[in-house]
Amino acid sequence: MSILIINIKELIQVREHNVTIVKGADMKILPTIKNAYLIIEHDTIVEYGPMSDYIDYHAEEVIDAKGKMVLPAWCDSHTHIVYAGDRSQEFVDRINGLIYEEIAERGGGILNSAEVLQNTSEEDLYQQSLKRLNRVMQLGTGAVEIKSGYGLTVEAELKMLRVIKRLKKESLATIKTTLLAAHAVPKEFKDNKKGFVDLVVSEMIPEVAKSKLADYIDVFCEKGYFDLEDTDRILTSGKAFGLIPKIHVNQFNAFGGVALAVRHKALSVDHLEEMRTEDIEALKNSITMPVALPSCSYFLSIPYSPARQIMDAGLPLALATDYNPGSTPSGNMNFVVSTACIKLRMTPEEAINAATINGAYAMGISNQYGSICRGKKANLIITKEIESYNNLPYAFGDNLIDTVIISGKVLD
Ligand code: NIG
Ligand code: FE
Repeated sequence: MSILIINIKELIQVREHNVTIVKGADMKILPTIKNAYLIIEHDTIVEYGPMSDYIDYHAEEVIDAKGKMVLPAWCDSHTHIVYAGDRSQEFVDRINGLIYEEIAERGGGILNSAEVLQNTSEEDLYQQSLKRLNRVMQLGTGAVEIKSGYGLTVEAELKMLRVIKRLKKESLATIKTTLLAAHAVPKEFKDNKKGFVDLVVSEMIPEVAKSKLADYIDVFCEKGYFDLEDTDRILTSGKAFGLIPKIHVNQFNAFGGVALAVRHKALSVDHLEEMRTEDIEALKNSITMPVALPSCSYFLSIPYSPARQIMDAGLPLALATDYNPGSTPSGNMNFVVSTACIKLRMTPEEAINAATINGAYAMGISNQYGSICRGKKANLIITKEIESYNNLPYAFGDNLIDTVIISGKVLD
């Protein structure tokens, strides 16, 4: 199958193959070609350039993108798309005055989702998750990381990971998998957190690694969840089994988790609503991508990650949704990009870089995804007719996407 897109008003995020991350002041630069064409063969971008260089090409499908823009599909590097049911009652409880931590202390929150998931069949879990995945693809997401973490037993975690594996097989989207082994302390281990960490290290991680069901290892490093010692043990064990760290850290409290993750050569540190100077210092000269999740801050009414401070320190930044039933029941990357501009004071160029090439880096796939580049995967968004790419974040809440192409296929 081949697709030719002509008369593209502006082709956005055009990069050389060796650009796999964009940092600091460079994030303000978004390379584009005005009045462009692009050719896809099978699932790959094979050619592009200004219309003035276009030489007749016979494609099976021709799309005239007059007045429209083309950009790489969003790369959402942090989601929990596989979950069962929802937590809309807790949403109402929060409106009525409870806070997220109080709900969790009462046995709600993650434990609530874990109980529902444990009692949901694998088929049902798959169908619920597939619906969410299809919806976010329609919203322009082409590559996505999905975490386990609502199982909290070896058996239920394996069930989640098998569902992710099936999604990977059945969907056009590219999926990376993270074992979120320690997401909350299960009820049975209420007074024996160490016992649960022992189980994670001695059974869960080896079993998941043996079945080759995950790429990454994650921990919710947070007060009331898992401390630095627990996190260190779990990351050390995960790494010994070939799982690369990518952790939840500094959501409500900052106490050294970022530096620990950097020491473990984590691929990313995610959340970062609470950042101290030493956390930013720890990230300098590291390979670790800071990831902000503005929809989570929006939904929970907690602080937004200090994106300006992070980028002004010369660091890169990625944006992701955190799609999950408790803190972010939305997988809409367009909303994330808007909110990043409105609340994190990121420029549209910075936000688009953060949601494409840097998001791909935070999933370990930026050599294949996240920019317009010959040889990269054909995951693309074609916008409606718009004046400038600034309209994407500006028109928050609107859907300015006309067509989504994933793995070289136009979505219906
Ligand atoms: O990333 N912070 C930890 N995990 C999820 C929320 C989980 C939940 O509330 O179900 C997050 O926000
Ligand atoms: Fe999360």
